[in-house]
This record gives sequence, structure tokens and C-alpha cells, in this order.
Amino acid sequence: MPLSAKYQSLEEYPFTRLNKLLGPVTPRANETPILMSVGEPQHEPPAFMARVIAENSHLWNRYPAMSGSQALRTAAAHWLTARYRLPQGMIEAGRHVVALSGTKEGLYLLASLAIPESKAGQPPIALMPNPYYLVYSGGAHMAGAETMPLDATAGTGFLPDLDAIPEAVLRRTALFYLCTPANPQGACADLDYFRKLIGLARRFDFVLAVDECYSEIYDRVPPVGGLEACAAMGGDTSHVLVFHSLSKRSNAAGLRIGFAAGDPDLLAKFGVLRSYGGAQVPLPLQEAAVALWQDEAHVEENRRLYRRKFDICEEILKDRFGFYRPPGGFFLWLDVGDGEAAALKLWRDAGLRSLPGPYIGRANAQGINPGERYIRLAIVHDDDTVAAGMRRLLRVL
Ligand SMILES: Cc1ncc(COP(=O)(O)O)c(C=O)c1O
Repeated sequence: MPLSAKYQSLEEYPFTRLNKLLGPVTPRANETPILMSVGEPQHEPPAFMARVIAENSHLWNRYPAMSGSQALRTAAAHWLTARYRLPQGMIEAGRHVVALSGTKEGLYLLASLAIPESKAGQPPIALMPNPYYLVYSGGAHMAGAETMPLDATAGTGFLPDLDAIPEAVLRRTALFYLCTPANPQGACADLDYFRKLIGLARRFDFVLAVDECYSEIYDRVPPVGGLEACAAMGGDTSHVLVFHSLSKRSNAAGLRIGFAAGDPDLLAKFGVLRSYGGAQVPLPLQEAAVALWQDEAHVEENRRLYRRKFDICEEILKDRFGFYRPPGGFFLWLDVGDGEAAALKLWRDAGLRSLPGPYIGRANAQGINPGERYIRLAIVHDDDTVAAGMRRLLRVL
């Protein structure tokens, strides 16, 4: 059966590759496997979430509005305004926010809107950090863009070097995905970085999609947000969309709730596109999301638990494998020399599952994959399991 050529040339999903690598291997050690390959929260969501869903069970029969209920959009607008100290009224629920069934869905579908057939008379480009969340490249590729990952290495502060992007590339750029705090490295863009990037988006007329789904998992300082930068630049949100999620903030990955906020013209068009290809969020779940966005106590507790886990990692690893304490997110990004070989060894000899860095990166023009030397470990389990994982790492590598 003839299928889309673009589909045929999609990159292989990292977890499919990982299963091929580790599937045939049985760990030698007689130890319970520890799975640190997937960034799936293990802390519990707050108890009120299930209660609110149950209390709203009379809403299951109703079709939800595609862009989300007024209550959800209002809760998101209030949360953004408080979290990023935005001027009152800058974010209006009805114009600047749309609900998403998880940010993944929106990050993927946005490319279908943002990628034109050509840009400056040439094939359009989508930029993203390297390494990257594969949904960026998958969405942009299927929408017809040339995907161009920009190295985000220790040498560039683990964010793309904006000054290194040739003007000829910027002219062809239709969409730029930024992830801050970055998955996998945990780096956070500061206000100056945002100012420069938003300036480029406006000057070269491309959409800036800022993936902020790890924004509430931070070590010391709350990461700056894309809308915070828009406020600092005068309040205009044009060309900018930020993406937020309850998956990590509230340990509610299964709830599938996120939102996009920013440029109202873009969001209106995105709303039209989502009428065709978006996924509505069931109303009882939207009610739970309202309660979650209105509560910060559980988020603070969540951060406390992650900080303690990073204390444990720091204590055990010290400065080995280039350990650093990430300012945001819940991953360790460790320089182990050869990420794939290390992941295989860790699984075979210690039952510790990690994600090889090269699986989420791509070879640059010099043929170097910036993830090549790394493994990514999700520090999501309880303290004892995290400590056991770190000790296995030291034992085996
Ligand atoms: C960088 C990044 N963006 C987006 C997502 C999607 O999150 P969700 O769809 O659960 O909101 C993930 C999930 O792991 C992620 O790591």
C-alpha cells in the first residue's frame, strides 16, 4: 500500500530504538530492574484530583469545546499571570489560551499551521535544539519542513547558540522549537536569551514555540518564561506560543492536559486547525485541571521531592561523568564516553535502564551527534531507588 514518503523517512522513535537495543538482553545481575529511561513522574498527583473528576461525572456525556472550557482557560490565564508576574489583562482567557490534550498533541500539530509551502522562495526550515524531543522533528518533518537541529552542548550552555545561526537559515526558518528547562540537559533560557530569540522571530517572521512543560520542576530559581519575556519587551505576544502541561507539574501525565498560550492571531488559526485534528479534553478532566492550576502547595512539595533526589545523586556521583545539578527538569545528562555502549552495559550488568543520548540527537554538519557521549536518566523514583540506581552506575561504568 503506498504510504506517505514523509512517513517513511520519519526518524525512529527513541524508545523503539531502545527496545531493539535492550529487548534481546536479559540483565545478568539478580537485581530488580530500575527503569530510568522514561521521564514518567512516579510521585502521586494530589488526592483532590480524583475527587474533582468524580464530582463532575455528570459531564461525561457532553462534547467539550475544542479550545477548552472558559473555566480552564481562565485558570490557565490566572496561573500564567501569577507565575510570570505578567501585567493584569495581558493574557485574556478567551484570546490568548487554548487547552490541549497534553502538550505533545499541540507541539506536533502546530507545525501543520506554521510551516508554509516555501519561505523566502525556498524550502522552509524548522529549527530546534540538538538533542531534542522527537515530536518537534516529527511534526515539522510531516508538515514539510527541513528539520535543522542546533547543537546545544556544554560549550553553548546546553541551549542553541543563536549567534551562530546563519542569516540565510533564519530567512528560511518558519518554526523554532525551544525547550526550557531543556529536556534532557535541564538548562534554562534567561531573559536576554529570550529577548534575542523573540527579536529574531519577529525580524525573520517565524513562529517561536517554547516548550515549558518542565517549568515547575526547578532547583533554585523559577525559570523565565516566554511570556515573561514578551512582557519585558512591552507586552506584545506576536510570534510567540508557550506550551504548558500538568504532566510533570502535577504528576498527572495520564490526565493529558496542557495548554498553549500567546499570540492571539496564531491561536485563532490554530483553533481552526484543531477543529479538524485536535483532541478535546473531557470536561470532568478539565474541572480537575482547573483545581490543579489553582493549587501550588502540591507543586512545591513535588519540587522538594525532586531536590532531595538530586541531593542524593550529587552525594553519590560527586563530579563523576560530568555530573552537574540541572537548574530545571528531572533528568541527569551524564557524559559516559559512549552513550549507547554505556546503556547496554548498564542494562546487561546492572538492570539499570537509561536512554542513550545519541537516540535523541542528530549528527551535525561535522558528523558529530552532540548526544553521542551521553546517557539520560530520569530521576523520578523514590529516594532509595534513585540511590540504588546511582550506585549501580558507579559499580558498572
Ligand atoms: C520536552 C517535552 N515536551 C513535551 C512533552 C509532552 O508532555 P505532555 O504531552 O504529557 O504534556 C514531554 C513529555 O515527556 C517532553 O519531555
